Amino acid sequence: MSLAGRRVVLGVSGGIACYKSCILARRLTECGAAVDVILTAAATEFVRPLTFEALTRRPVHTSLWDRDRALAHIDLARTPDVIVVAPATANLLSRAAQGLADDLLTAVLLATRAPVLVAPSMNDEMYANAATQRSLAMVRERGWAVVGPAIGALAEGPSERPGRMAEPEDILAEVERLIVGADSRLSGRRVLVTAGPTREPLDAVRVLTNPSSGKMGYSLAARAFARGAEVILIAGPTTLPPPYGPEVVRITTTAELLQAVEQRLPDADVLIMAAAPADFAPRVVADGKPSRSDGGFNLDLVPTPDVLELTTARRKPGAVTVGFALETGTATERARSKRDRKGLDLIVLNRADELGSGFEVDTNRVTLIGEHGETPLELLPKPEVADRILDAVERLL
Ligand code: CTP
Repeated sequence: MSLAGRRVVLGVSGGIACYKSCILARRLTECGAAVDVILTAAATEFVRPLTFEALTRRPVHTSLWDRDRALAHIDLARTPDVIVVAPATANLLSRAAQGLADDLLTAVLLATRAPVLVAPSMNDEMYANAATQRSLAMVRERGWAVVGPAIGALAEGPSERPGRMAEPEDILAEVERLIVGADSRLSGRRVLVTAGPTREPLDAVRVLTNPSSGKMGYSLAARAFARGAEVILIAGPTTLPPPYGPEVVRITTTAELLQAVEQRLPDADVLIMAAAPADFAPRVVADGKPSRSDGGFNLDLVPTPDVLELTTARRKPGAVTVGFALETGTATERARSKRDRKGLDLIVLNRADELGSGFEVDTNRVTLIGEHGETPLELLPKPEVADRILDAVERLL
C-alpha cells in the first residue's frame, strides 16, 4: 500500500492504449491511492466511464459542464499528489503544451500546481513529427515528467520506433517515484543491488550454480527505484525480465561479480548484496566436454572470492551496507558473526529450509539483524520484504 492516503488524478485521452489505463487505474487503487479519473470526450469512445468507476470505486469526470460540479476543474487541480495523463495522445499533448483549457482535462492541467506525468501514446510517425516533439519539449520545460513511449507493437502493426504507451507497471513506478520519492531518504541516492546466482564453468558446457531466482534482489532494485533512488542492479543469470528503471549490469561468475561491485561501489550510498554467489569454483576448467564414457569427473573446488569482504575498503564513507545470510536451522549467531566479519550495517537472515522462504519462491520470511537487535518479519511477498528492508536502510542513512 505504497500510495495509501494519496490522491492521484488519472487523465485519459482518446487513444487505443486507453484499455491499458484501466489496468493502471486498478493498480493505483490497489496501492491505496484515491484515483479520480478524467476522460476526454475522445477517450469515452474507447472506454466507458463505468469501467473506471468500477475499478476505482469513485465517480468519473468527463465534462467541464456538469451542472452539479461547476468548479470540478479547480477541485481536481488542487487536491492530487500527482496528475498522470495516460495515454497522452498527440492532440492532448499539443493542446496542453499551448495552454488550452477547452475541456476538463486540459483545464485541470492548466489550473494545477501538482506534479504532472504524461505517458505519450500514438502512431510512430505522429510521435516523430516535429510538432509533437515541440509539444513534449514545451511540457518538459514546464517541469512535467514524461514516461515512454516504448518501442514495440502498435495497434496498426509492429514498429521499430517509439510510439507505444509505457506499460502500466512502469507508469506506476514513475508515479510512486514522484509521490513516495518526495519524502524518501533514498531519493537521489545511488543504490547498488546485486541479485541472482553466479555460475562457475566446470568445462565448455557444464556449470556449478545454485537455484537462486534473483526475485529478492530484483524486488529490492524495483522498490528502491520507486523511492526515487538511482539504482544499479548487478544481476547473475536469471530468466526474470529486467525491471523498469534500474540500470542493469549482467555478470556470470563470482569473479565478474567482484569486478562489477569493485567498479561501482565507490559512488554508492547503499550496497545491498542479495546475490547468492557460487561459493566454490573448479581449480581448473576442463577442456572441451569430457564424455561420460571417459569414466568419472573429479571436481577439485576452491572457494570463490568473498565480494563483501574484499571490497570493504572501496565503500564510500557513511554508505549503508546490507548482506543476506541464507541458513538452515536457527542460525542467528551465524548470521550475526557474518554481519561482523563482512562489516555490514544490516544482515537479512532467511531460512533455506522453510516453506515459502528462500530460493525460487515469491514470498520470504526474514529476520533483520542490525547493531542493536533483531526484527523478525512475518511471511510476506518479496516486494513487501524489499520495502521493509529499505525502511531499515532509510533509518540508517
Ligand atoms: N557473499 C559475497 N561473496 C561470496 C559469497 C557471499 O559477497 N563469495 C555475500 C552474499 O551476497 C551475502 C553474504 O555474503 O550477502 C552472505 O552470504 P552467504 O552465502 O550466507 O555466506 P558465505 O560468505 O558464503 O559464508 P558460508 O559459506 O560460511 O555460509
